[in-house]
Amino acid sequence: MITGVRLESLAIDPYPILAHLRATEPVAWVDDARMWFVTRRSDVLAILRDPELYRTDSAHSTIRDTFGEQMLSVEGDRHRRYKSQCNAPFNMRSVQGHAMPLIAARIDALMDAFDSEPVVDLRPALASRLAVYTVASVLGIPAALHSRILGWYADFAAALANFGWDEQIRARGHASAREFQDAMGPVLRELERGADPSLLSVLARTVPDRLTDAEIVANALIVLFGGIETTESTILNVLWTLLRHPDALAAIRADWSVLPRAIEEAMRWEPAVQSCTRHLAAPVALYGITLDKGSTIQCMLGAANRDPAHFPDPDRYDIARANAGDHVSFGSGKHFCLGAALARAEVQMTVERVFGRYPALRLDPERPSAPRGFEFRAPPTLHVLLRG
Ligand code: HEM
Repeated sequence: MITGVRLESLAIDPYPILAHLRATEPVAWVDDARMWFVTRRSDVLAILRDPELYRTDSAHSTIRDTFGEQMLSVEGDRHRRYKSQCNAPFNMRSVQGHAMPLIAARIDALMDAFDSEPVVDLRPALASRLAVYTVASVLGIPAALHSRILGWYADFAAALANFGWDEQIRARGHASAREFQDAMGPVLRELERGADPSLLSVLARTVPDRLTDAEIVANALIVLFGGIETTESTILNVLWTLLRHPDALAAIRADWSVLPRAIEEAMRWEPAVQSCTRHLAAPVALYGITLDKGSTIQCMLGAANRDPAHFPDPDRYDIARANAGDHVSFGSGKHFCLGAALARAEVQMTVERVFGRYPALRLDPERPSAPRGFEFRAPPTLHVLLRG
């Protein structure tokens, strides 16, 4: 059946549309996206946990076309090899020992910079800068190159969403990937001689079985892309959610130990990444519909996170929800987010430090904000009155 879902409507308020699909058409052809949407949590989990049938390594993958082969466009042994070599800087020990002190200092410095203002847009002033800085630091990209990251990033974002395969958009994505590769060559040579714990340095010094420079750069690209807008958007969604739920915020202030669950619940309720894309390796029948080999499937994470079969009263933001952490906002299965521990630490430190420093912080009623987007979802701006 052809479903009349419009991506424009989905970008504004996806949840009623997704709820309707989940109840009436759990596998739905969305003509506007030319993809199948899967909306039930059990189906989303089954697909993400079956990488033999539902694959990332497809010629139809815009991620592979833009970045080349890296962990999010290969399966099996190659995926294991890439992901295991990239793992060290992202485990809890490295996050706590290396990344967290850097992140804490950067949050404070960013707040110092806007401290004298009455009103600030937390997107450019805090979330965006923090996300770029964190990923660049964890990767080991020298500070002199940080200012170029957002330019490359814009081209990558357009190329990854280029499902119509527009040649100009594609060419810009390829050009930026080449520029990144050229910039990283000398960085890798330098890091081979050092001993720092950053990802590029670890990969450059791995023996035996070192990845080629091209493989290192391609995996660095997916880390760069995977870690910036996702974290920026999650910081904004969590802050926005808490500011919109003063009772929850008051409960957190009374007992900071409930914060981690409140963050998980905000990630369930308003996930920054709304879908994971897979390509069918063979025809499959779902709910009586035959999906052809090569079909593209969008696992709709925001729909799975509000599936009433798993989360009672799913549209309610409830910091006491016992199973809030069962959300799929970091994906599931072999491609589960590499940076989840880092992202969680970054979001939690931001919330603690922002509300710790500005106890009366509130949304600016003159410049309202709300999350937007059907792939990446976040408030385009987040103006707040720092001192109430
Ligand atoms: C709150 C912020 C974040 C969210 C919501 C998020 C979400 C996701 C999701 C949903 C996936 C699964 C993609 C799929 O299966 O198709 C994923 C994978 C991935 N993420 Fe994240 N991510 C976040 C932060 C980060 C950070 C900080 C990094 C690194 C610095 C990162 C790096 C990656 C990588 C490399 C993958 C691919 C893993 C693989 O293919 O095995 N992410 N992320």
